[in-house]
Amino acid sequence: RSTHQTETRRRIVLFPLPFQGHITPMLQLASILQFSRECLAGLLLEDSIEDSVACLITDAAFYFTQAVADALKLHRLVLRTGSPVSALVNGGLTIFSEKGYFNIKKEDPDYEASVPEYPFIKFKDIAKITPNPHGFRDLITNIVRQTTLSSGIIWNSFKELEEPKVETIYQELPIPSFILGPFHKYSSASSSSLIEQDRNILGWLDTQAPKSVIYVSFGSLAHITKSEFEEVANGLVNTDLPFLWVVRPGLIADTEWVESLPEMFLERVGDKGRIVKWSPQQDVLAHPATGCFWTHNGWNSTMESICEGVPMICSPYFSDQPINARFVSDIWKIGVLLEDGLQRVGIEMALRRVMMDKEGEEMRERISCLKDKVNLSLKEGGSSHRSLVCLVKYILSF
Ligand code: UDX
Repeated sequence: RSTHQTETRRRIVLFPLPFQGHITPMLQLASILQFSRECLAGLLLEDSIEDSVACLITDAAFYFTQAVADALKLHRLVLRTGSPVSALVNGGLTIFSEKGYFNIKKEDPDYEASVPEYPFIKFKDIAKITPNPHGFRDLITNIVRQTTLSSGIIWNSFKELEEPKVETIYQELPIPSFILGPFHKYSSASSSSLIEQDRNILGWLDTQAPKSVIYVSFGSLAHITKSEFEEVANGLVNTDLPFLWVVRPGLIADTEWVESLPEMFLERVGDKGRIVKWSPQQDVLAHPATGCFWTHNGWNSTMESICEGVPMICSPYFSDQPINARFVSDIWKIGVLLEDGLQRVGIEMALRRVMMDKEGEEMRERISCLKDKVNLSLKEGGSSHRSLVCLVKYILSF
């Protein structure tokens, strides 16, 4: 843009971590900042006197960008794509490591017990966080240290979701926190998918009864073994309910796609089930036919399910997923955690609990309440909306 004499332009430079679950929220944040009512993009242009960078927004995992920002005398804001509930537990990683909590195995009597320092999680949840406790602890320590040196942190969550104990996460940080999610609710589904989404599946969903379909997806990174794949297939077919199953190429170890499924399985399923490589997930969750979401509890998937009021079956793999799943099942009570992994009998029981039992109806009621709270938080005067207004003012003050 040009004025009479000077070329005036200020930019916000964003650095996402190059993984689906991190790229998507960063691009969503970019479009929120560009198109928010306050129209930050326009204000930055009006406000600027020279060609310059207003600030950097970088993924929390790019902790080393704080040194770059300091060297260039730029403000750095941090985007945390994972959940605030897992950030709460991250505070305990050093204790877990010192006390040997990471080494507690299935055979140990404590495996199923609650962790004394964090009673809302179990030792078995800690065991799932990482196969490399020292490396993970060092990474998180660096992330936390460099985040506290930044100008502020942006969370893809909403205040009403969390228990009062999560508040401490925001209060204890010596920098401003902006909790302005869920990002994907600000505008329609973004086109940030790295894999092509099979949109034909929406036509099949249109032919299904309301709340009748089990939607299954384990996100962009998780892997399962061939025998776990078989257990999932058997669990689904034994339930005898319609399903839409995302089998990402590469999901199953040593297999291209679904070639290890016996012909008999496909015959038995017939038109009752569909398998796709990648789905338009937000549209699937918003579809009236979707009855539950069997998920790995990546934070984006968890938020997307809450936003559409769809109860969950939880099969977490690593990182923040086990903590998210524990909150979904035990604290918010909006899903069932498959405590014993992928086994056909447990799967069938969990699916029936959510899809057919009174317990499932109660979960649906609770998650519908959360959905209403999401919508309120995004309206003018709601907590996320207020946080966005504060963030825009803050960036303009740089
Ligand atoms: C990873 C981590 O595992 C997660 O815990 C962390 O918070 C972010 O990075 P990922 O496995 O990518 O997450 O899962 P998730 O955070 O749920 O993100 C997956 C995204 O892919 C979602 O936005 C979902 O809508 C999208 N998706 C998934 C599709 O568009 N189609 C699909 O078929 C499956």
